[in-house]
Amino acid sequence: MTGIRLTAPAPGWAIDADVVVVGSGVAGLTAALRCAAAGLDTVVVTKARLDDGSTRWAQGGIAAALGEGDTPEQHLDDTLVAGAGLCDEEAVRTLVTEGPDAVRRLITTGAHFDTTDSGDIALTREGGHHRRRIAHAGGDATGAEISRALVEAVREAALHTIENALVLDLLTDAEGRTAGVSLHVMGEGQHDGVGAVRAPSVVLATGGMGQVFSATTNPSVSTGDGVALALRAGAEVSDLEFVQFHPTVLFLGADSEGQQPLVSEAVRGEGAHLVDADGVRFMLGQHELAELAPRDIVAKGITRRMHEKGTEHMYLDARHFGAAMWEQRFPTILAACRSHGIDPVTEPIPVSPAAHYASGGVRTDLRGRTTVPGLYACGEVACTGVHGANRLASNSLLEGLVFAERIAADIAEVRPPRTEPADAPGDADAPVPLLAPEARTAIQRTTTRGAGVLRSADSLATAAEELEALHREAAADAEADGAKAVVPGVDAWEVTNLLLVSRVLVAAAREREETRGCHWREDRPDRDDAHGRRHLVVRIGPDRTPVVHRTETAAFPPVRPSD
Ligand code: SIN
Repeated sequence: MTGIRLTAPAPGWAIDADVVVVGSGVAGLTAALRCAAAGLDTVVVTKARLDDGSTRWAQGGIAAALGEGDTPEQHLDDTLVAGAGLCDEEAVRTLVTEGPDAVRRLITTGAHFDTTDSGDIALTREGGHHRRRIAHAGGDATGAEISRALVEAVREAALHTIENALVLDLLTDAEGRTAGVSLHVMGEGQHDGVGAVRAPSVVLATGGMGQVFSATTNPSVSTGDGVALALRAGAEVSDLEFVQFHPTVLFLGADSEGQQPLVSEAVRGEGAHLVDADGVRFMLGQHELAELAPRDIVAKGITRRMHEKGTEHMYLDARHFGAAMWEQRFPTILAACRSHGIDPVTEPIPVSPAAHYASGGVRTDLRGRTTVPGLYACGEVACTGVHGANRLASNSLLEGLVFAERIAADIAEVRPPRTEPADAPGDADAPVPLLAPEARTAIQRTTTRGAGVLRSADSLATAAEELEALHREAAADAEADGAKAVVPGVDAWEVTNLLLVSRVLVAAAREREETRGCHWREDRPDRDDAHGRRHLVVRIGPDRTPVVHRTETAAFPPVRPSD
């Protein structure tokens, strides 16, 4: 037990359960439904409303070998290539073999996918896939449909849900085993303010951390709370340097910050071209799949062309689709573009890369177990080894489904007894000093400048210095007789999480002295298999400094609770 906790008041209320699931995207709700179906008393805690996570924003779809002639083996091959030498093959094999049935169970749960005239699931292509294997719903509203179906199933099953709840820290028993979470609820009545859900199994499904960057496709709730909680609890995180930048995000101006509209890769899958201002298709000749190369290659291709041309964006040209296809196949993107004054039916769409997906996260084994006993992770917050150095498009919804089901099966089998938390937020040995909410913009700009799509030793060193200065200032303010200490509250907790996640991300990116997958180092442009085909595993030292450890081989060592 590290005793590292956020500064927070002691819980004023508590409830008991067998399992608490934190997060309500595809991973969280699938885990919760399966745990409840196994007879476990399950509580779902979510930061905003049940349908407010990243899942709702997923456009392209969910990849699985469902089409005629496609096989899990081919899906595995494409995933391994995209992952640039760092996928865990067993994890990928689990994903691709269990994936098709997991999608069929999702359909049984109530999700409606688009179908062909003959009634089969309609499949499209995205970057890195050599086959059409992406199932979609509502044209480009796949995540929204999955979220709708799962939320409805959770309501039908009458699961105990707590909305508007920011999870703070893991509670542990006297042996250091998971005993629940502390959380802050902006609610009325029964659950209000800081409280605790006491449970021997905690499933983190808190999603991503895109908000550490100035511009991201992620919603505002994606502030890395799960990774930060896990680090404070002593868990290992891995591969955090591999942040995937989506190549085609609607360009709203170089200064545009916060969540940016995505223009799905499926638009390229259906035949849209990337062009520069002169109409030249610059991805031709860069990769055999051109615009449909794996995402890191397309993001680099766009960024290079932007630098060559001295421009801030490129264009995605899909005028040849015509109005009917745009309206039927991509209604969400069409509406988003038009709301910003761009009509993709008559003009090319200005696009540039933006932070999109954390390929790394809290390290887990194939049962979703982390290095802290009783703490599980699935979905974007987790690092199962499936994504390696660069996630293959549309593998993430599938990963959420498959590994959430595995976690529920593991908890149902183990059924750990309930125990008493031995500590509470107020008792922390080392309460983490909070950052003032105003530090958010500084963290985002520093991370973007230093660890954005193109990085270097210098840019990362500057970012590390600036982030450490913020960390030191917060500690000094907290020690200065309390007068300058930041008052605990949702904004301060979130920003404190952002800083921790950003410090770890930058520490790992400095350590990875090569270019691999979505980690692109200007000063180290080549892949270095001799030293780089290793994972970087990070945990927080007692002084709250990231400690980076390089694995011996490309394979993860087994997850052991004592690690
Ligand atoms: C997209 O639709 O391009 C995003 C899909 C994904 O991130 O997997």
